[in-house]
Amino acid sequence: MRTIDWVGDAVEIIDQTALPTHTKMSRLSTVDEVVAAIQSLAVRGAPAIGVAGALGVAVAVRQYANDPDGLAAAVERLRTARPTAVNLARGVDRAAARIPAGPPAVLAEATALMTEEIAASAAMARHGADLLSQLCPPRPRLLTHCNTGALATVVGGTALAAVAELHRRGGLGAVIASETRPLLQGARLTAWELARLGVEFQVAVDGAGPFLMARGMVDAVIVGADRICANGDTINKIGTYAHALGARRAGLPFIVVAPETTVDGKTATGADVDIEDRGSAEIVAFAGTLTTPADAAAINPAFDVTPADLVTAIVTDRRVVRLDRGERL
Ligand code: MRU
Repeated sequence: MRTIDWVGDAVEIIDQTALPTHTKMSRLSTVDEVVAAIQSLAVRGAPAIGVAGALGVAVAVRQYANDPDGLAAAVERLRTARPTAVNLARGVDRAAARIPAGPPAVLAEATALMTEEIAASAAMARHGADLLSQLCPPRPRLLTHCNTGALATVVGGTALAAVAELHRRGGLGAVIASETRPLLQGARLTAWELARLGVEFQVAVDGAGPFLMARGMVDAVIVGADRICANGDTINKIGTYAHALGARRAGLPFIVVAPETTVDGKTATGADVDIEDRGSAEIVAFAGTLTTPADAAAINPAFDVTPADLVTAIVTDRRVVRLDRGERL
């Protein structure tokens, strides 16, 4: 399964808003369409939006061939379509740096990023599965949050790629996928991917995680990241911090798996990161039905910050950094 690709002269994605009931492909041939797909989470997950941003620049150079100002504005709209995952701005900047060399060079840079993310997924899968085998009892029961599988990358995934690799090695017990309010990336997307992989899993509400850990039903927590700061603070889907606190209290490993493209050495700590607030509509209603009193206010941070001291290890495509042993990024 491939989440995103360049096909003909446009970006092609699996529309993640339609899953798990429909597997629908979408073609994005204008910058407006790419920006809308990123903002609506039709394409989502840090590595996938990095690739979408880079391919979006390839769309932009075609669309604004004779309009330098329009092109600059389009690149900026792509770059800022979502603020938190560092991959997006990075992917856009990398492709945009090739604009002076012409559209084929921009496309080559974007597709190179796509190829590198595929290789990174395979490396993370190996490193992550090796670490899980070291830190956990045989056939561990793992808890994961949000979606970090193929859908969040190009193919493979980050944390879920490590889980899948452990499963392929015959070393996985089972998985608890926390549902991931409000947009249910865990319940809709991770559950869909785990079923396709043939992994035994259960979906749990987000608030159940720390309790299930306290009851001895989880051996380790494994998540992805949208940005990892220089000090190891990890920005990931809202709800991650609560799982990290639960893991610490229960004495369980808390493992973060992300490509080097998500490590942001220029941002010192999580306090310096712009956390996307997606507005109240996603909170006060579900599937079009109001779930709160009509005038209820809501706050909707899409991500939280897990302090580095709660993280056992950060696994990337190139290294395993044992923060619990005092190693630094
Ligand atoms: O808002 P989303 O769905 O784009 O958020 C994605 C996450 O938080 C993922 O857990 C993270 O990007 C890791 S993706 C491999």
